Amino acid sequence: MTIKPLVILPDPVLRQVSKPVERVDGALGKLADDMLETMYDAPGIGLAAIQVGEPLRMLVIDLSREDEPAAPQVFINPEIVEKGAAASVYEEGCLSIPDYYAEVERPATVRVRYLDRDGKLREVAAEGLLATCLQHEMDHLDGVLFIDHISKLKRDMVVKKFKKLARDRQPPRRMVG
Ligand code: NI
Repeated sequence: MTIKPLVILPDPVLRQVSKPVERVDGALGKLADDMLETMYDAPGIGLAAIQVGEPLRMLVIDLSREDEPAAPQVFINPEIVEKGAAASVYEEGCLSIPDYYAEVERPATVRVRYLDRDGKLREVAAEGLLATCLQHEMDHLDGVLFIDHISKLKRDMVVKKFKKLARDRQPPRRMVG
């Protein structure tokens, strides 16, 4: 398994709309394992393929606590088939927007249809953290970030900060001549 570099804001790759997975094969399984390894290393509880630069509709989630055995879940071509009427607010973060957290309101429950890593069609009625996490990761598949759900003022401040950080990461230019 390989830990892959994470795509960080303001990289435009994060705004790409990911394509449906057409074949659930060994290569896809390898990508899922690499995504899990990358997520555990970060550490995080969810990761979409686009966050490691692969524009495919696949995400991984593991909500187990540190004192519990790992419980990796792979969701391929996930679709929300039903949203609950009640909303819940959760303080979200994102591995592509490190060290920034903000409260986001989303439907408290969702029913999601997806393929598992064996290509089997499944459905889950998600609530609580799983519902939040699934919606956050599925947003990534459409190029949407959790900061799109907060006020424009706050979002602009975050984007500005990450643009500056990206500039500062550039190696200094060598003097020529
Ligand atoms: Ni995220």
